[in-house]
Amino acid sequence: MSQGLIRPHGGRLVNRWSGPEATARIEREAPRLPRLVLSRRQQSDLQLIASGAYSPLDGFMGREDFESVIHTSRLASGTVWTIPISLAVQQPVAARLSPGDPVALYSSGNTLLGLLQLRDRFSCERDEIARRVFRTTDPSHPGVKRLHEEGEWLLGGKVTLIRRAAEVEFPKYHLDPIQTRALIRRRGWNTIVGFQTRNPIHRAHEFMLKSALEIFDGLMIHPLVGETQASDIPARVRLRCYEVLLEGYYPKERTLLTVLPAVMRFAGPREAIFHALVRKNYGCTHFIVGRDHAGVGNFYGPYDAQRAFDEFTPEEIGVTPLCFEHTFYCAACLSMASFKTCPHPTDRHVVLSGTKVREMLARREAPPVEFTRPEVARVLMEMYANPENG
Ligand code: ADX
Repeated sequence: MSQGLIRPHGGRLVNRWSGPEATARIEREAPRLPRLVLSRRQQSDLQLIASGAYSPLDGFMGREDFESVIHTSRLASGTVWTIPISLAVQQPVAARLSPGDPVALYSSGNTLLGLLQLRDRFSCERDEIARRVFRTTDPSHPGVKRLHEEGEWLLGGKVTLIRRAAEVEFPKYHLDPIQTRALIRRRGWNTIVGFQTRNPIHRAHEFMLKSALEIFDGLMIHPLVGETQASDIPARVRLRCYEVLLEGYYPKERTLLTVLPAVMRFAGPREAIFHALVRKNYGCTHFIVGRDHAGVGNFYGPYDAQRAFDEFTPEEIGVTPLCFEHTFYCAACLSMASFKTCPHPTDRHVVLSGTKVREMLARREAPPVEFTRPEVARVLMEMYANPENG
C-alpha cells in the first residue's frame, strides 16, 4: 500500500488549465486583447507551468522572483528554485504592453493558447544572467547563445492555458504530474526514482537504473523530449531505443516510461536541482544525478551538479538525489563499475564519448555490447542508415 505521495514543491500542485466557462470567456475576449506569439520554447514552459510540472510557479516570473532566483537560487518566498522561467520579448513588443492588462497568447500557427495576466515588464542584463545561471558568458555555451538570441525584456504574470498548440508529440508516453501521481498511487509505490536523460540509454545509464531498482519500489524513466542540441539523437529515435530496452530488460510492473516535454538548458548544477524539483512534482521521491548532469562541453566539473545539492537542506529540496560516479564497463571486473568499486587501470575500461559513438554509427559500425545493448545499437544504426526516418 502506498503511504502517500511526496508533496509537490511549495506544497500544492498548480493547475492553470482553464475550465469550460473560463475558456469560452477567454475565446470571446481574446480578439480585443494585445496579442503575443510564443516561440516553441515558451510554449513548452507555458504547458509545464499549467500542468503543475513547475509548481509552485503559476506563471512566468516577475522581477522579484526572477532576481531572487538569479542571485539566491530561491523564489522571493524563499522556496528553492534555480532556473529562471521567464517570457523574453524584444523591446518594441514590451513597450506596447501595459502591466495590469491581460495578454492573449498565441502559437506561431495563430492558435489561441491562453492568457497572461501581465503583472511585470522589466529589462534584464544578459551577461549577469549568463554568469549566474550558466557560470559563463562564453557565447559558445548553448544556453548563453540562446539568451542572446532572445529579447532583453521580460514579461511576468500568472498564465491560464486553454489548449496546447498542437497535439502532444508522444501521446502514448505523455503524462502530466497529476497522472503520474495517480499511477504511482495505483501501483502502490512508496519510493520512486526519477531518471532524466536526453540520450539513448547506454549501459552506464542502465547500471544506475538497475542499481536503483534493486532498492526502490519504482523507476520513472523520464526523458526530456523538448528542444535540445542539434547533435543529440532526435527524441523520436530515442523513444524507440527506450522501447526496445524496456521490452527486453526491465520489469514492466516496476518501470514507467513517460516523457518530459521541457527544453534542455545546459545549466549543469542549477539545472540538476531544477530537474529534481520538477520530478518531485511528478511524484518522484529520489532522482539520479550522475556524472556532469545537464552539462555541455567542459563548462562544469563532472560532480558540480551533485555538489549543488549541498547548498540546500534536504527538507528544502524534498526529493533525494542519488549520486553516481562516472560508470563504465570494466573488462577485468567483467561488469559495469565505477572508480568506487573497480581497482583496475583505465585501459581495462570501455569509455566512449558521444562524438566517438556518432562516428561509429556514421561508419555503420555497432558500438560494443559493453557500451550499448545490441537492440539499442540497431535502432541507432538504422537511423544513421536512413536519416529521413530519424
Ligand atoms: S543529461 O544532459 O540529461 O544529464 P545524459 O542523458 O547523458 O545527459 O545523462 C543522464 C543522466 O545520466 C545524468 O544524471 C548524467 O549525469 C548521468 N550519466 C550519463 N553518463 C554517465 C556515466 N558514464 N556515468 C555516470 N553517470 C552518467
